[in-house]
Amino acid sequence: MLIDQFGRKIDYLRISVTQRCNFRCLYCMPKIPFNHQPKENLLSFEELFLFIKAAIDEGIEKIRITGGEPLLRKDLSVLIKMISDYKKDLDLAITTNGFLLKDFAKDLKNAGLKRLNVSLDTLDEKKAKQLAQKDVLSSVLAGIEEALNVGLKVKLNTVALKNLNDDELIALLEFAKAKNIQIRFIEFMENTHAYGKLQGLKRDEIIQILSQKYDVKLIKKAEKAPVSLYSANGYEFGIIDPHSHEFCDSCNRIRLSAEGHLIPCLYFDEALSIKEAIRKGDVKAAVEILQEVLRNKPEKNKWSVIDNETSLRAFYQTGG
Ligand code: 5AD
Ligand code: SF4
Repeated sequence: MLIDQFGRKIDYLRISVTQRCNFRCLYCMPKIPFNHQPKENLLSFEELFLFIKAAIDEGIEKIRITGGEPLLRKDLSVLIKMISDYKKDLDLAITTNGFLLKDFAKDLKNAGLKRLNVSLDTLDEKKAKQLAQKDVLSSVLAGIEEALNVGLKVKLNTVALKNLNDDELIALLEFAKAKNIQIRFIEFMENTHAYGKLQGLKRDEIIQILSQKYDVKLIKKAEKAPVSLYSANGYEFGIIDPHSHEFCDSCNRIRLSAEGHLIPCLYFDEALSIKEAIRKGDVKAAVEILQEVLRNKPEKNKWSVIDNETSLRAFYQTGG
């Protein structure tokens, strides 16, 4: 079992398989990443799998594949199949921007994937183009359709932004409800790579907007996830509110970047690399590095409601 210095059980590993992305979302990477990594710096699937097997043996029960945009990593379903064949009952998911999903949904499903999260911030073509800096909406919607058609469980992620999609939260919720899928509104997490003028909506502002149409009630704080579940006239949706620190108390996660950095907290820049150990095939040393990262996992992030602190970490390296 993996336990950190604050007694939190760590059983959730998020793996970014590439920091490349085909979008340039304003809240993530409006400019080309300045430290774009050459391919040989990435851990190969075989190297990743060596670590993943050890991490599962140590107690990881849930793995999410992220990016950048994970579907840009060639043959991603091969990795999905390796993982899913190793442990059939593992909770295995990916987070994608959905742009390439129409082409890959079936392969992913056949490889053993059960569920995925798709980012959908707007249903307006022009706003989608403004936010991702590319004409993306129709492809994303087609991707969501295809994922549902092949039997994948889908959740939607929506970053709630002032003057961008604050007038669409109800429409987005209705969209998800009509498809019988869950939508989660995410507070914008300030970071130095994002477009400077963005302002996020906080949890209470999101609830206030939705309350114009629905009777919004808190159902529960998810036990091991940063999402709190709410009901809007009986429809269940989520809010992810990192600005209230409540979710850090039950944080169960650790992140691995595409280049092999183990990152203990999304907010902080600190990380340790397992690359050298894994490239030598020294899995034991990699697990020791994992243990050390857990010993140093911070207690809380620093996005406080009061002073809106800004993280230096790039979301395209950690996949949110
Ligand atoms: N704040 C909040 N959420 C973000 N994401 C990316 N950058 C940010 C940010 N600055 C989320 C996107 C996507 C996932 C990959 O991470 O909504 O769903
Ligand atoms: Fe790409 Fe996701 Fe970042 Fe948007 S949020 S630029 S889709 S990695």
